[in-house]
Amino acid sequence: MNYRHAYHAGNFADVLKHAALVAVLLHLRKKETPFAMIDCHGGRGLYDLAGTEARKTGEAEAGIGRLLQLDSLPAALQPYIDIVRGFAPSLYPGSPLIAAHLLRRKDRLVVIEKHPDEYAALSQALRQERRARVIKGDYSDELAKLLPPPERRGLILIDPPYETEGEFANATHALIAAHRRFTGGIILFWYPAKERPAVDASAGEMLNAGIDSLLKIELDVGHTPAKERLSSTGLLVVNPPFGFAAAMTEAMPFLVRHLAQASGARGSVDALAER
Ligand SMILES: C[S@@+](CC[C@H](N)C(=O)[O-])C[C@H]1O[C@@H](n2cnc3c(N)ncnc32)[C@H](O)[C@@H]1O
Repeated sequence: MNYRHAYHAGNFADVLKHAALVAVLLHLRKKETPFAMIDCHGGRGLYDLAGTEARKTGEAEAGIGRLLQLDSLPAALQPYIDIVRGFAPSLYPGSPLIAAHLLRRKDRLVVIEKHPDEYAALSQALRQERRARVIKGDYSDELAKLLPPPERRGLILIDPPYETEGEFANATHALIAAHRRFTGGIILFWYPAKERPAVDASAGEMLNAGIDSLLKIELDVGHTPAKERLSSTGLLVVNPPFGFAAAMTEAMPFLVRHLAQASGARGSVDALAER
């Protein structure tokens, strides 16, 4: 458990993931009935963009930093940027803080975090948030206990660090098990698109398991000279809400143009299964 999101917070992968998260949460708010969000990998919740970790990698500067300098953004990205501007310039909100910002009084947030230091920081960041519960534990043990949520509406975010071998397959199996318990739930599954066979295998397993509404969104910022640096990221979205694919398709050329780090940057939004 060496991964610390502070080195990567606000990078291009976070921009894609968090813009999608905001779009889904705004959709869930359209109906009067309450919803629940379960964030399986919470991180610390709040990130210091002027801190040692962020400055060491420069990833936020090449990610959210670029977008914050722009005056005009596609409508699909504006709500996400507006939320981030509430924390900028020195702080960046992680997924639990973004979610907390968009919950209504009747909605609920449950966040799971395994690492003791990240859990402590997250609990502190959410200390005044009455609608949020933070669980210290492993999502592979905790998620099933939370499903289906009593609200019967909501979103699950699966966002592992992909530090260990088998984590892609484990996360895929966790997603499939979660879908079985909560068939109507929206699931955002984040992945690094480094190994194409792993992505294809994961999507294939989801389809074979009977998931009949699945969207794949990918953003490649071009090959960077530093080989260990992530250059391509994606999201598999189970039960994407109405209008979500169109919003991501609208945002993608803008993200490619402004987040590109080298030639060959590109993005895609593909329906893998549609009901
Ligand atoms: C990519 S970060 C999460 C970032 C966060 N979702 C966001 O968007 O702001 C992954 C987090 O998962 C935590 N983690 C790793 N393995 C876990 C597990 N099995 N269960 C729960 N949390 C885990 C790590 O400590 C790390 O903080």
